[in-house]
Amino acid sequence: MKEIYEMGGRKFAFQNVGPLGCLPEFKQQYNHSGGACVEVLQAITSLHNSLLSNVTVELQSQLSGFQYLIFDFFSSLNDMINYPTKYGFNVSKIACCGIGLYRGSECGRVKEYELCSNPNEYVFFDGGHASERANSILSNFLWNGGSEFTWPLSMKQLYELNSTTAIEILSNDKLLFPM
Ligand SMILES: *[C@@H]1O[C@H](CO)[C@@H](O)[C@H](O)[C@H]1NC(C)=O
Ligand SMILES: *[C@@H]1O[C@H](CO)[C@@H](O)[C@H](O)[C@H]1NC(C)=O
Ligand SMILES: *[C@@H]1O[C@H](CO)[C@@H](O)[C@H](O)[C@H]1NC(C)=O
Ligand SMILES: *[C@@H]1O[C@H](CO)[C@@H](O)[C@H](O)[C@H]1NC(C)=O
Repeated sequence: MKEIYEMGGRKFAFQNVGPLGCLPEFKQQYNHSGGACVEVLQAITSLHNSLLSNVTVELQSQLSGFQYLIFDFFSSLNDMINYPTKYGFNVSKIACCGIGLYRGSECGRVKEYELCSNPNEYVFFDGGHASERANSILSNFLWNGGSEFTWPLSMKQLYELNSTTAIEILSNDKLLFPM
């Protein structure tokens, strides 16, 4: 991040790591029965995300003009998984496409796999990817903000911010790529 800043980067948008332990792919790989998330994966992901959040606060205090946002992919997707009906989904613990207990793997990769009839009812399309409808809701949280899932700015606000411009960077003698 500091290298990018040195090269002139001022606006940084981060997406934190999603709830890996709740992905159908990993529940299946870890042989979890009963639908529960894999706690160890959830724990290391939370630790990473907490450190990421702390580092951005630190960078903003060190680097003049550093602007950032964090899109809390972990909490937003977790919320969809835990409260699917709030978002108009019926199914959040099993993927639409694949094989195995959670249809967690092999979507389209083997001759016979299961495919649900309406992916819009599912949070997950396959073991590792949110469905198109879920992604559309998530991208709305990212772009428009206005929820607890994107802070301290929305992507739209970050985009529209006027920061130190490329012109100023070009006139800086620390220029890395002289013209
Ligand atoms: C899950 O079960 C498979 C088949 O019994 C086994 O090979 C694999 O090691 C198990 N995975 C874990 C993480 O326990
Ligand atoms: C991040 O900062 C908060 C507030 O200072 C602190 O409580 C928390 O332990 C820090 N997280 C990590 C993973 O160090
Ligand atoms: C999902 O919910 C809708 C509306 O309540 C219902 O029509 C549909 O049959 C449900 N689908 C599944 C797979 O449960
Ligand atoms: C940013 O700069 C542009 C071009 O000078 C200007 O039109 C716009 O109003 C500025 N935006 C903000 C939020 O100050």
